[in-house]
Amino acid sequence: MALVFAGMAKAEDGHQLWLRQQPINKAKVTGPECIAAQELRTYSTQNVTLKIDATMEQDAYCIKVNSEQGKVNSVISAKNEIGLLYGAYALLRGETTDSEPFYKLRILNHWDNLNGTIERGYAGLSVFWKGKASERKFHGRTIFVEDPDQPINAELIKEYARANASIGINGTVLNNVNASPKMLSAIYINKVKQYADILRPYGIKVYLSVNFASPMSIPAKGFNGGKPIKTADPLNPKVKAWWKAKAKEIYAQIPDFGGFLVKANSEGQPGPFDYKRTHADGANMLADAVKPFGGIIMWRSFVYGAAHSGEDRVKQAVSEFKDLDGKFRDNVILQSKNGPLDFQPREPYAPIFDNIKNTKQMAELQITQEYLGQSRHLTYLAPMWREFFGFVAPEKLVGIAGVANIGLDKNWCGHHFSQANWYAFGRLAWNPNLTSEQIAEEWLGLTFNASNNEALKSMMLRSREACVDYMMPIGLHHIFAFDEHYGPEPDGYNAHVPLEWCPVYYHKANNDSIGFDRTHTGSNATAQYREPYCTLYDNINTCPERYLLWFHRVPWSYQLKSGRTVLEEMDYRYARGVKEVEDFIRIWNEAKPNIDEQRWQEVDARLQHQLENAKEWQKVCMNYFSSFTKK
Ligand code: GCU
Repeated sequence: MALVFAGMAKAEDGHQLWLRQQPINKAKVTGPECIAAQELRTYSTQNVTLKIDATMEQDAYCIKVNSEQGKVNSVISAKNEIGLLYGAYALLRGETTDSEPFYKLRILNHWDNLNGTIERGYAGLSVFWKGKASERKFHGRTIFVEDPDQPINAELIKEYARANASIGINGTVLNNVNASPKMLSAIYINKVKQYADILRPYGIKVYLSVNFASPMSIPAKGFNGGKPIKTADPLNPKVKAWWKAKAKEIYAQIPDFGGFLVKANSEGQPGPFDYKRTHADGANMLADAVKPFGGIIMWRSFVYGAAHSGEDRVKQAVSEFKDLDGKFRDNVILQSKNGPLDFQPREPYAPIFDNIKNTKQMAELQITQEYLGQSRHLTYLAPMWREFFGFVAPEKLVGIAGVANIGLDKNWCGHHFSQANWYAFGRLAWNPNLTSEQIAEEWLGLTFNASNNEALKSMMLRSREACVDYMMPIGLHHIFAFDEHYGPEPDGYNAHVPLEWCPVYYHKANNDSIGFDRTHTGSNATAQYREPYCTLYDNINTCPERYLLWFHRVPWSYQLKSGRTVLEEMDYRYARGVKEVEDFIRIWNEAKPNIDEQRWQEVDARLQHQLENAKEWQKVCMNYFSSFTKK
């Protein structure tokens, strides 16, 4: 074991994440002087030789362990210092195998706003952007406004870089997909440069989310006398010239800038439709602007309520993008969420991955647990992501993006166990074939010195299924409370918001039946799936029950394989979910002697809260759904 752990009695705040080695400062390290050398010199128990081997693949490393006369001297080879760094972290984790990343693009997406708040962030304010409290309040809440004059926290960002590099993450989008045009103003580009300079030695490229209408409010250097223009039409020559000038301005400061992430014509964001142009027109125009510098465009397919308004929401991405397949530049990547709706506890995979064949694709996973208990529930997400890879072969994708769960909270993620999701994301982006179990074991070992604690591992592995059970079993979806996306609201309906935001649209319960008919007799969403899934999901007898109410509308008397009716099955599942959380509390109690005090207490408090929440979901949903059968 290459690690030395701090004594268990010591208070721990979780800030060190999975990087808890104590400095030993004994290893002799030879080879190029770089961060890998520094890390090994500080933390390794053995001597290491670092070698540059220019013939190797980018980011790959090779580890050879030589033991002679009781002395261990390992050799790490890689193409460059970044590969050596990955090798160094692997060696410090106790790995002695060669490895290369499955994906070239392993990117975090921060939904951080320039005023310092984080959309769907549950671990405090942004580590990148600092705002200040304004005089104004909104419904009693403080409003934050941007404050570009505040200095960056270089120390913290270095820690962030190190944590990411240790799990192979090599890119980061620094701002929210609901992007402020100000992100591209000179003062913020300068800040991005400062971040890029800190992240570069750790092999991490920076990317930005951009607002498609930016040319209408922000000047680009050397263009139009420093004045914005009146349109953002992607086919307008001035708009093209604006983006080219902006790209030049960015790359002059950040030569290895990664590129742009774009949310267009989705949830009120501007986009090419505003000018009767297509997603391809928009994406290609941006792609041409960054192409000379080697940049990429990650264009999101999370769209609904625009060109295909009124259609079953889960069908709209395919409807909008299918005919554009093959029409994108080669530096455009279509980025899609794992499911067709929106990061629910369980969704069938998104059929856009079947329908797009001639365009590069990336999956967007959500690390921040927006709909899975946020930072208050222990929900280990690797099993959900592995489930996705069971349907969408990793080879179909060119990269993976993960919506980050990182904030200024001392422990970064709010919940100590939410760190495991950040960790798992990085490990799966490196190797999507790792099992949830392997990753949990690794993380528990590094974080709690408890790799061989079967009970803790089982708690993690069961936690996502438990969450599905106590929130949205047998294919229920989108029945959460509107406001914070937290807690149950199965009766949710509001005439003032789009119908696709209302829970009743999704379960469609009435006195006779429940469920959304997405088969050929209904919205025909099943037709968007490749075989065998199309037929499998369309037929109620072969549709897996975990997707029952997602694809099928059934009478309340419908019997599941268990012999229980729909309502009885719900009753059974909600109760099972609650029982699971009770068992997690038991497991955590038993682990107490082996866990440091502070982290034990903090996790315990959250587990108690999770249990209360699970019971609330059970009560509210069962009361609501059973009311139909009583009438
Ligand atoms: C969800 C989330 C939004 C986010 C959106 C997106 O709907 O609640 O906050 O902006 O997804 O992915 O664009």
